[in-house]
Amino acid sequence: MNPREAATSIPANRAPGGPTTRVAPVAPADARSAELVALRGVRKSYNLGRPNEAEVLHGIDLEIGRGEFVALIGPSGSGKSTLLNLLGLLERPTAGSYRLLGQETATLDERTLTLRRREALGFVFQFHHLLPAFSALENVTLPALMRDGRVGAAARERAAALLAEVGLADALAKRPGELSGGMQQRVAIARALVHAPPLVLADEPTGNLDRHSSDEVFALMRRMHAEQRTAFLVVTHDPRLAERCDRIVELVDGRIVGEGG
Ligand SMILES: Nc1ncnc2c1ncn2[C@@H]1O[C@H](COP(=O)(O)OP(=O)(O)OP(=O)(O)O)[C@@H](O)[C@H]1O
Ligand SMILES: [Mg+2]
Repeated sequence: MNPREAATSIPANRAPGGPTTRVAPVAPADARSAELVALRGVRKSYNLGRPNEAEVLHGIDLEIGRGEFVALIGPSGSGKSTLLNLLGLLERPTAGSYRLLGQETATLDERTLTLRRREALGFVFQFHHLLPAFSALENVTLPALMRDGRVGAAARERAAALLAEVGLADALAKRPGELSGGMQQRVAIARALVHAPPLVLADEPTGNLDRHSSDEVFALMRRMHAEQRTAFLVVTHDPRLAERCDRIVELVDGRIVGEGG
């Protein structure tokens, strides 16, 4: 069974108050390779060839293994979001190599990059980016709609099961505006995980939340990581949260200055 079949073949338990259905994890990592992400000498400049050209990442070497939970910290302007955008295939490096799941990405065309992004990556941002006119369930089935042009029963069931996992079994029909900030972020996490990506990139996912909601959302990401075996790279300004990650990568002025566990 391939990971997608495994992920969608688990029926949702939508009985109110019933036991929470565990959503099937991604297939075990390929025993031959635990490498998920490998950056070598990655540089990023903006405004190339113009007078205001500026290099913001100056040769990044970084590896993330399958199933890791990594914090990315550093001062404002140090290049954290830029690095996430590169890892997320939203932007291309100016120089260097980015291997994702063993494949060099520099030579891929735009269409293939889009497919890779949809299959291999999930995104959570500081502001949830949920569509206000759609219900929680519809927001979580959106990736399936974009991928397949329709939402099948299996995709709907997996989305409902994930929303139950994040504690929102009773909020499937609610629109984002009817949910608290923490609940909205939990919907965003369910959406990021719905296609069982091997890597979730989260850019200050708790940056807009109070301390209590922030702790809850962080604990949820750790739980989903444990259950789904999804790797996470989480940008945070909160040292309390960074300490709860398995590894901390620190960026200062576009260079990795420290790594700790
Ligand atoms: N599209 C762009 N064009 C030009 N410069 C950019 C662009 N995006 C980012 N930069 C510059 O790159 C540097 C790094 O920005 P980045 O957003 O990656 O920092 P950050 O570490 O995420 O900061 P913060 O903690 O404030 O979110 C900054 O000097 C920023 O001005
Ligand atoms: Mg940023």
